[in-house]
Amino acid sequence: MKILSIDTSCDDTSVAISENKNILANVFWSKMKLHTKWGGVVPNEAKRQHEEFLEPAINQVLEDSRLKITDIDYFAVTYGPGLAVALEAGIKKAKELAIKYNKPLVAVDHMVGHIYANLAHDEKSSPLSNLDDFEFPLIALTISGGHTELVLMESHLNFKIIGSKIDDALGECIDKVGRILGMPFPAGKYIEEAAEKGNRNICKFPIPMLKSDNFNFSYSGLKTAVLYKVRDHILKAHNIKLDQTIKITNFSSYLDKEDINNFAASFQYSAFEEIVSKVEKALIQYNPKMFIVGGGVIANKTLRLLLEEICKKYNTPLYYPLPFWLCTDNAAMIAIAAYYYITNNVGIYSNSKLDLVDRIPGLKINSAGI
Ligand code: KG4
Ligand code: ZN
Repeated sequence: MKILSIDTSCDDTSVAISENKNILANVFWSKMKLHTKWGGVVPNEAKRQHEEFLEPAINQVLEDSRLKITDIDYFAVTYGPGLAVALEAGIKKAKELAIKYNKPLVAVDHMVGHIYANLAHDEKSSPLSNLDDFEFPLIALTISGGHTELVLMESHLNFKIIGSKIDDALGECIDKVGRILGMPFPAGKYIEEAAEKGNRNICKFPIPMLKSDNFNFSYSGLKTAVLYKVRDHILKAHNIKLDQTIKITNFSSYLDKEDINNFAASFQYSAFEEIVSKVEKALIQYNPKMFIVGGGVIANKTLRLLLEEICKKYNTPLYYPLPFWLCTDNAAMIAIAAYYYITNNVGIYSNSKLDLVDRIPGLKINSAGI
């Protein structure tokens, strides 16, 4: 079964081709440079560039996999969650292809893709994350720019959210703190690099939600705490009065490298302690057979070490997508998820039913129509 998949959930345009669970080709086009200029994603710019790049990306994956478009059995596309106008661009293209080649369309939840990326195989059918299949019950943690979720799975494509963000997502908070510290967008890898050189004991931030008795996450208070600590540090160090305005975007010009590294280290420590404390609670309560992680933030080495330690303490095997490009947004994970949708006979739309496929920007994983 050959699947051509499209993901345009945010600012990366990605197209992939898989054969069953084997990834044959994947291309991304990332508009990081453009967004660095604006410090965030500009929805209409993202849409315009998805429209411009989808056609060449499709040609590229066909060439890389040495296939013709008529060899494709299913087209798959992300229908949410994500930016409405960006999702629309991918859905429109996928529908055009499904109609032109008279093939079914599979509508995939992006977060299901992040979880199922763990089951991707290479062209020779070898599992890339050393994981051939899931063992249930399992707990999945998805941590990205838009999501922070703990999901319990009792069987394939059966999701129960046990904890989720109540305000900012972890990646979103990392990107906002990065902006305060003068880092380019997205800030994840810059925060990580700075934190490695910094001393987290120079200043301390509260660990969010530590005492709460549920599995939810909150990051907006931590972001505000960083903002005020950095501002107060600047006022004191430069003898500036509170009524003199300095823009957040100028904060970094008042900070030296050491300050930035120390703030990054303290912030990262508090942010990750919250994740680890909730994961520990979930491991104790649900005693899962495996713990899997998806989403861009797991690219962070310190977080991976912390999660490895806590999973080891409870004898729970930990998996995350490998190679690392499978952790961040990509269309290969959408193709792998689509393979499971197809084999479980869900989320498949014939040409006469395509009107039912629409973007759902705020899609929740357990309302994916499964
Ligand atoms: O999954 P993803 O590629 O896109 C979304 O669906 O949002 O995740 C992107 C997020 C961004 O917030 C980015 O700053 C964060 O992942 N990220 C990291 C690292 N690399 C990317 N956060 C911490 N450390 C990293 N090394
Ligand atoms: Zn994502």
